[in-house]
Amino acid sequence: MKDKCVLITGSSSGIGYEITSKLLDLGAKVIGIARNHDKSNIENKNYTTYNCDVSVHEKLETLIKQILKNHPKINCLISNAGYGNFGPLENFSTLQINNFLATNLTSHLIITKLLLPHFKRNKMGDIIFIGSEAGLLGAKNGSLYCTAKFGLRGFTESLSKDVSKKNIRVSIINPGMVRTDFFENLNFEPGNSEDNAISIKDLSSTVAYILALSRNTNVDEINLSPLNKAINFK
Ligand SMILES: NC(=O)c1ccc[n+]([C@@H]2O[C@H](COP(=O)([O-])OP(=O)(O)OC[C@H]3O[C@@H](n4cnc5c(N)ncnc54)[C@H](OP(=O)(O)O)[C@@H]3O)[C@@H](O)[C@H]2O)c1
Repeated sequence: MKDKCVLITGSSSGIGYEITSKLLDLGAKVIGIARNHDKSNIENKNYTTYNCDVSVHEKLETLIKQILKNHPKINCLISNAGYGNFGPLENFSTLQINNFLATNLTSHLIITKLLLPHFKRNKMGDIIFIGSEAGLLGAKNGSLYCTAKFGLRGFTESLSKDVSKKNIRVSIINPGMVRTDFFENLNFEPGNSEDNAISIKDLSSTVAYILALSRNTNVDEINLSPLNKAINFK
């Protein structure tokens, strides 16, 4: 992985933190974006962080320009930042709906769009989106979350067709429940049994696996499910 220079969003906790640790262990350089990196304790000379709220779209262009200037070797994007919000649609204000999609859908499109010219110039790039099982099947109370994750999946499929000739690979990983802070502000969480959630290490290994494949191969999509799905309501 020593030839990989990875920009990852949402590196400060949960899945993004675990992917960051894994890729650093494998020798990659990693540039992490999140609003607050204080909760992350990674100290590694190959890890650089930038504070940014990805829902504030007007700041993204300047940020990505600055990051590319400081790290011109970036050749991968792991687009992961996001949060959950569940409930009947009419419970959400228009502002909440817009803010939710700004983080969980539009920011992924904009950051990708801003990196694509760089990948095309270098005739190489890898993009991995962290989707969800909620992008595969609509769920009760999931109208908002499923909209974002179905959208991300459609975006992945289309983008992949647009950029493959430029040696840019595009993948999406759709995990079921993983034990992270994602559930902190939700009224449910994975069941108590260990096999009610995916191992976060299996998820980071899946990212490493995709990146390590020969450039002949594009992983379109990988779905990961807990062996036995069960939910606890709090
Ligand atoms: N956990 C699950 O069961 C599960 C299942 C399927 C898919 N996912 C997806 O996995 C991704 C990561 O979630 P997680 O489980 O790792 O949750 P998490 O532990 O809460 O981590 C979310 C990450 O996203 C960042 N983030 C959130 N909003 C942001 C914003 N506006 N600007 C910049 N960064 C932001 C957070 O950093 P800051 O708070 O510091 O900004 C944090 O680093 C999400 O896209 C989620 O939808 C999770």
